[in-house]
Amino acid sequence: MLDKIRVLHEEIEKAVASTTEEVEALRIKYISKKGSVNQLFAEFKNVPNDQKKAVGKALNDLKNSVLEKINALRESFESDDSESDGTDLTMPGEPIKLGTRHPLSLVKNKIIEIFGRLGFTVAEGPEIEDDWHVFSALNFPPEHPARDMQDTFFIEQDPDIVLRTHTSSVQIRVMEQTKPPIRAIFPGRVFRNEAISARSHCIFHQVEGLYVDENVSFADLKQTLLYFAKELFGEDTQIRLRPSYFPFTEPSAEMDVSCSICGGKGCNLCKYTGWLEILGCGMVDPNVLDACNIDNQKYTGFAFGMGIERIALLLYGIKDIRYFFENDIRFLKQFESAI
Ligand code: DAH
Repeated sequence: MLDKIRVLHEEIEKAVASTTEEVEALRIKYISKKGSVNQLFAEFKNVPNDQKKAVGKALNDLKNSVLEKINALRESFESDDSESDGTDLTMPGEPIKLGTRHPLSLVKNKIIEIFGRLGFTVAEGPEIEDDWHVFSALNFPPEHPARDMQDTFFIEQDPDIVLRTHTSSVQIRVMEQTKPPIRAIFPGRVFRNEAISARSHCIFHQVEGLYVDENVSFADLKQTLLYFAKELFGEDTQIRLRPSYFPFTEPSAEMDVSCSICGGKGCNLCKYTGWLEILGCGMVDPNVLDACNIDNQKYTGFAFGMGIERIALLLYGIKDIRYFFENDIRFLKQFESAI
């Protein structure tokens, strides 16, 4: 009996396996119910009593050795597996695709960056506003059509509360809270009760600009906007200011830039005028300064406001404003490196 045990011991020590199936075969051969180790346990009852102690110990040692050997072989495969299936763990990882910024954010950031170079800081105001900040303080007469239900989203319970129709409201908030000099831009979302079409939407974005100090002149406004237009549309861009009307500026103007597609010769985009309308602007009306408790004898200022969607449409040659809000990934991922 002890001889048989020794033979099995040697066999087991030398046993090799190169697949998990082979390990399983070894397990069956030695320690399954009919395996050779168990056979010896079955024969144990025939061992003479005086040898039982020694044989019993040898048998148990044999069984433990078999179990250890099988576990060791199994583990060696498990840790080997990753290499044997051809995975090279030293390879660089799969690149993770980053998202891209929304085109409106890209244009907004560009505008902030350009005015930042001229010393304009950034401020924001609430989207849900009161009549004072959206209209009254901005010198809108009580019957002005912009207050009409057609344009403005009112809150039913309280006609004093509106969704702001323009970011000019932030001018008022800033002037109420800050003493001149003030030089800041206010990007934000605005709301108008308008039918949605390729050209207009009921939700869109504007950037407002405000500069209030002693001796601010229309020449300062013009130079600031010329710099902005050249930085955004290219060095050769020209600007043109057309007289216009806004309640909160006097005098008021609308600014056109020379068409970036045809350079002013006339094309489809500029409807053969050579010019594209970009923003409204003017000198802050003294009444507006007064409403914000700023001394309108001492201080003057200029203001301007532009639509981010409109500029993005022109910069990227997009034909329909609705694309900006559909969140079609194929549309959105085209813009990251465009400006
Ligand atoms: N608030 C105007 C609008 O929504 C845009 C505008 C025009 C802003 C002239 C200004 C300005 O600050 O001076 O259309």
